[in-house]
Amino acid sequence: MPMLSYKDVFLTYRGTAVSVKALSHFSLDIDPGEPVAIIGPSGCGKSTALLLAAGLLQPTDGEVSIAASKVTKPRFETALILQDFGLLPWKTVYDNAALGLRVRKFKRSEIRQRTEKALQQAELADFARLYPAELSGGMRQRLALARALALDVNLLLMDEPLSALDALLREQLQDLLLQLWRTSAYAQVLVTHSIEEAVFLGRRIIIMSQRPGRVAHIVDNPGMGSTDFRGEAAFYTKCQEVRAVLTAQSLKGAGVAGADVATGANADAGVSRA
Ligand SMILES: Nc1ncnc2c1ncn2[C@@H]1O[C@H](COP(=O)(O)OP(=O)(O)OP(=O)(O)O)[C@@H](O)[C@H]1O
Ligand SMILES: [Mg+2]
Repeated sequence: MPMLSYKDVFLTYRGTAVSVKALSHFSLDIDPGEPVAIIGPSGCGKSTALLLAAGLLQPTDGEVSIAASKVTKPRFETALILQDFGLLPWKTVYDNAALGLRVRKFKRSEIRQRTEKALQQAELADFARLYPAELSGGMRQRLALARALALDVNLLLMDEPLSALDALLREQLQDLLLQLWRTSAYAQVLVTHSIEEAVFLGRRIIIMSQRPGRVAHIVDNPGMGSTDFRGEAAFYTKCQEVRAVLTAQSLKGAGVAGADVATGANADAGVSRA
């Protein structure tokens, strides 16, 4: 049974003046404990797909389910890390990390034990009494991760979590994400614009079409799983494979010769007057 399942999902944002079709015929199954990466053009519906999984949006049509039950609202065992991290500036590192547990009304002793462990895993134990403004970008990112880890989730959703970081720090955090995923049992959905990041952290790389987004292609990546992978020839080859698929995909969207223009993908940009 899949952990997370999208079945022929459509999502249209209905505004006052125009409607935007963000997803159409989006179908994808993710196994328990499986890490996938989603990559695709800007505006193709990646964040929308995560919000649906988190129970913060309802599909216009089709169904999103977790462990075979329909997602109708946010659930405790799912964590969502957004690009701006959602940290509360007036709370300390410790209190930010404990936030999800407090919202879920865990016992005080359990809050302390889980929060301390999560801060240790995110290498922030020495900074518990600081405030987010006193942290570097990478530390804020780790704090957002610690908050999710404290919850002991079985589904971790991340929307471009590392995009604001410089290259070296980004790799360090990718290593940390990999290590945490390996020691925990959660399924992981990582939205990223980086091909290297997708190949490092995704056992499958889901490539989306132009908006309205659907799954255009899936690249299997059984070689992922160790930090050494980044230095291997197979890593480079896999990145090239993903790059080629993405390029073909963007040519399709632009209606360039050789691409599949018969589908009219370019004629219907998915925006219509309401
Ligand atoms: N709340 C909203 N109301 C109306 N339209 C929206 C809303 N959120 C997103 N959209 C539209 O839906 C489409 C998909 O948006 P989404 O944020 O899912 O894209 P994305 O793939 O995450 O893009 P990016 O890579 O730039 O983050 C876009 O065209 C966007 O303008
Ligand atoms: Mg987005």
